[in-house]
Amino acid sequence: MTAQPYPHPSGATPPALGPERSPAHVAVVMDGNGRWARERGEPRTEGHRAGEAALVEVVAGAVEAGVPWLTVYAFSTENWKRSPAEVRFLMGYSRTVLRRRRDLFDSWNVRVRWAGERRRLAPSVVKELDDAVQLTRDNTGLTLTLCVNYGGRAEIAAAVGEIAAAAARGAGERWDAERVARTVSRAITEESISAALATPAVDLFWRTSGEQRLSNFLIWQSAYAELVFTDKLWPDVDRRDLWEVIRRYAERDRRFGAA
Ligand code: FPP
Repeated sequence: MTAQPYPHPSGATPPALGPERSPAHVAVVMDGNGRWARERGEPRTEGHRAGEAALVEVVAGAVEAGVPWLTVYAFSTENWKRSPAEVRFLMGYSRTVLRRRRDLFDSWNVRVRWAGERRRLAPSVVKELDDAVQLTRDNTGLTLTLCVNYGGRAEIAAAVGEIAAAAARGAGERWDAERVARTVSRAITEESISAALATPAVDLFWRTSGEQRLSNFLIWQSAYAELVFTDKLWPDVDRRDLWEVIRRYAERDRRFGAA
């Protein structure tokens, strides 16, 4: 049986917007954990620890608001540059959060997926991600994509590589190089690249902590996204912040390049 998330203790409810004014895909850069910890004189890892509750809140808020796609940036390919201790913590932390929360997400009918490169990730982290994906794969509610060891440019490059390889294979051995080249070149289109990516077009791109950057997150999918930057640090966020951001999105006039 599918349970709705427990209501927010304040009694707040999600904005009542029709599907045409609601975002179908929300992307979130959960930024500010390190600063949150520093403000308290604690190690950066305490900020990440505190960020778990915010993640659960925002997933609850997305389920309640009826958002179909939520994609969160948990670990970027650039995050390997952090100290070995922080990288180690973040890896173990992804594993624990997944194990601790997957049944809750499953009970909310959330379908968990992950996007990112297996390369460099510890097998135990990959296994935990795969297990959560497997457990929830038949769920029909929110699709929650966890971006772990993810980079937007790498995702595009991999997608183009797959499309080109499939087209070249299909061309067969009988064709001359020029004909193969033409076939491969024609196979690479905006549509085929979009279809090969893990997530659909982003409607609303939200970053917390006052920073105003995309940081290589879903760069192809966000070509026409509405960008919303808010000041709170990630651990201070709850589902009401998501709902506020969705309200701001609903007020925007999206023209997709048209006059
Ligand atoms: C950015 O803050 C945050 C992260 C690098 C990690 C966020 C991850 C989670 C909250 C949950 C991950 C969970 C799963 C299940 C994969 P920062 O360290 O860049 O903060 P700063 O900009 O203040 O230094």
